[in-house]
Amino acid sequence: MTMSSKAAGRVLLPPTINPTRYSLHFTPDLASFTFSGVATIELATTKDASWNEIMMHAKELCFANASFVVKGRTEREEAVEIRVNMKETTVTFIFEMEIPKEATLVLTIEYQGFLNNQMAGFYRSSYTNIHGETKIMASTQFESLDARRAFPCWDEPARKAIFSISLTVPKHLDAFSNMPELSNKTLPGGSTKTLVFLDTPIMSTYLVAFCVGEFDYVQNQTEHGVLVRVYTPPGKSEAGLFALDCATKSLDAYNDFFGIRYPLPKLDMVAIPEFAMGAMENWGLVTYREVDLLIDPKKASSSQKQRVCTVVTHELAHQWFGNLVTMTWWDDLWLNEGFASWAENWAADVIFPQWSMWDQFTTGHLSSAMRLDALRSSHPIQVPIHRAEEVEEVFDAISYCKGGSVVKMIRAVLGMKAFQSGLGAYMKKHAYGNTETYDLWKAWEESSGLPVQEMMASWTEQMGFPIVTVIDEQWEDDKVTLQLEQFWFLSDGSELTDEEKEKNWCIPIITCTSEGTQHDMTFMREKTATVTIPLKSKDGWVKLNAGQDVPMRVKLTSEMIHRLGSGIKSKTLPASDRAALLTDTYALVKAGHMEPEALITLLSKFSDEDSYIVWCGIADILVGLDAVLEDDAYMSANFKKFAKGIVIGLNGKIGWESKDTDGHLTVLLRAMMIGLLSSFCYEDKDVSAEASKRFGAFLADRNDVISLPSDMRTAVFKIVLKNGGVTEYEQVKAYFNQTTDNAERKFVLGSLGYSEDPKLKQKTLDWTISGEIKLQDFFYPMGSVRSSSSEGRNMSWSFLKANFEKIKTMIGKASPSLMDAVIVSCSGGFCSDEKADEIEDFFKANPLPSSARKIQQTLENMRANAKFLKTLQSSALSRPEFWVSLA
Ligand code: BES
Ligand code: ZN
Repeated sequence: MTMSSKAAGRVLLPPTINPTRYSLHFTPDLASFTFSGVATIELATTKDASWNEIMMHAKELCFANASFVVKGRTEREEAVEIRVNMKETTVTFIFEMEIPKEATLVLTIEYQGFLNNQMAGFYRSSYTNIHGETKIMASTQFESLDARRAFPCWDEPARKAIFSISLTVPKHLDAFSNMPELSNKTLPGGSTKTLVFLDTPIMSTYLVAFCVGEFDYVQNQTEHGVLVRVYTPPGKSEAGLFALDCATKSLDAYNDFFGIRYPLPKLDMVAIPEFAMGAMENWGLVTYREVDLLIDPKKASSSQKQRVCTVVTHELAHQWFGNLVTMTWWDDLWLNEGFASWAENWAADVIFPQWSMWDQFTTGHLSSAMRLDALRSSHPIQVPIHRAEEVEEVFDAISYCKGGSVVKMIRAVLGMKAFQSGLGAYMKKHAYGNTETYDLWKAWEESSGLPVQEMMASWTEQMGFPIVTVIDEQWEDDKVTLQLEQFWFLSDGSELTDEEKEKNWCIPIITCTSEGTQHDMTFMREKTATVTIPLKSKDGWVKLNAGQDVPMRVKLTSEMIHRLGSGIKSKTLPASDRAALLTDTYALVKAGHMEPEALITLLSKFSDEDSYIVWCGIADILVGLDAVLEDDAYMSANFKKFAKGIVIGLNGKIGWESKDTDGHLTVLLRAMMIGLLSSFCYEDKDVSAEASKRFGAFLADRNDVISLPSDMRTAVFKIVLKNGGVTEYEQVKAYFNQTTDNAERKFVLGSLGYSEDPKLKQKTLDWTISGEIKLQDFFYPMGSVRSSSSEGRNMSWSFLKANFEKIKTMIGKASPSLMDAVIVSCSGGFCSDEKADEIEDFFKANPLPSSARKIQQTLENMRANAKFLKTLQSSALSRPEFWVSLA
């Protein structure tokens, strides 16, 4: 293929022809699942334009004809040949005449396409309306490479252009696009109408959007007069109010924060019945999975509200970061997703300060980032993407969570003022343009005077993160001097080669002490460093990586841990630091840097803990250890008893009953506690009785959210299913069809696999591919079987092997992220080398190129767990005395 390569190795369309304006007209037919399209595209050719062809992206489109005129002239040049390259997803129009150089051409293309059901391109969704009728609607999902599935285009983020969209649709349907309606005319015959939308600003193809269907809406205005609407299925408009409120508030907050106004006159947010991801930031027309937008005010759980709020704040952050300023190429995807992952928390924290979003960041985004980035199969934040298709694989915890974490780190280093003014300058300078990571560093260097580029390169250009070990300590009455050393941290603690030992990061050293956070930060650039930290009392404590602003692990000395005991007890050590002490220790134990008994001893120091944040850390450890020990009956039994003690202790403090005075975090903590009860204490008489009682009330009235609040539905279903039989199974499953609320359905999908009876587990697995569950959700029950027990783990893996072809066919050309979800749901969680080998062999025989990275990461995790199990088996935990001493 004659593609030029601008940056090394990138496969791009030739740069000699540039689109400046697309007029796109679509006529969808919701009955035959097809659409016809007319694309009229203004092109500027450069002086290097040569040859007699125009090559563009296109996929699954049937072309009728193509022709161009040179602007200002009348002769029309028809394409004499239309060459489609399915593999490269391109179309080439060949003309008799040579393409004029340095000219403006208007290219017109007539074509047909399909409204597919694969949640990509211009696609259809089916849904049941409030009258029980099946309906079809159509909408778009273009990121990353599917605009070409709806119209021929230069489908690369740097090929920005103006878009003028128009649609001809049945008279009774609503239709909208990125921009407000310019005109709306009924066509002769009266049954159809043509809607023309205003021109968009100059923007990338992957952000174009339109949809057609029946909707209700709620609306509001921002302080700056932007009209915000949430479109819902008919009869459900009330469910849009919560997201509407989050959207108007965050739009105003971002306006002030970035110092640039949201440039469009309106912002629509639409719930789409079938949606592959959580949401998509199309400029002015953000699309969402229903559960990520709609909130039933009478039923919704606290975690659903938090999810909807952060999905909204994430997508609205993209209206600036991504839409107004866009990465030049996909290897800087993190500029979009990493920044939005930071900003979603920033804005949610502005709207709901009582949610402690930044503390939650530590046990959420930061933990996910380090979990993935501690693998050898990780990748750098700035990741080379040669063929655009490769980008699908890097919508992962590195781009999102590590990206968000390094933004949080820069914010800590620069201080809010320089951080924000740098961002504002970056936005102004690059508005409507494209950037690379370096442009952002430059803006922050100018606003702060600090060598941002030098500092950040080690975090974004190389993969992995460091473990900082305190190798020497000197405690004096008024200060402590610590010797630090850094190495690359690997989850399985595997040997580093000499070259790998040289890997270094530029680490800001941020500490807190018994007297508060220390502000004069130093930087550790070399292998080792010495820091002196003032202390006011001679038995004072110090914690490194205060506020968990740096994505790294820290190994403290036993003296330091001992001193921290008082900070943990008195809770003067902040919650996210207390949580990190635990999660760092767990990771270090797993990697063989600390003895396992140190973790158990540390856990027992947290008996008074009632912070949700810290419990997120504790829960991760309990669930993680439980899964690894599953294959060792003796240790597993002892560990379960130990975990049960901890969880029952929490239950004693917090109880089942909600109180009017409960804050958001208390509600989340109670839900988590009941989740832990379902893992460790479901056989406990009191626990199973309480769960049965609440389940009984639910059976009597499915809407009884006093007896069975949504926050605890999944966990209570699990307890009831584990203790029950076919009757309970059928009762839970029946709810899937009894409710029309997708959030409620998800409680069924996430719990059904927990029935103890293997026949019922198998029934659940078979159900996933019966066609009764939407493709967007069908992997959830697989995951619930897999995580229910070691038997479930084996069953879900066998199920995937046995039904591999069918599942592949079901997913078809839908997003590869669905296949990733299936792989993790069915084969994640094993802790043996033999199983890892078996899974590896299976995928060698049945290759899935676009999930290759995911498979490799899953295998590496498994092998790390296998190694961890061996460590545990040769540790004190394998000896009876150890557990006796704990009792
Ligand atoms: N831009 C993404 C959507 C996307 C993801 C498109 C993958 C193509 C491939 C969007 O902004 C996003 O990140 N959505 C998240 C939700 C968000 C709150 C983390 C999603 O869909 O999971
Ligand atoms: Zn995003």
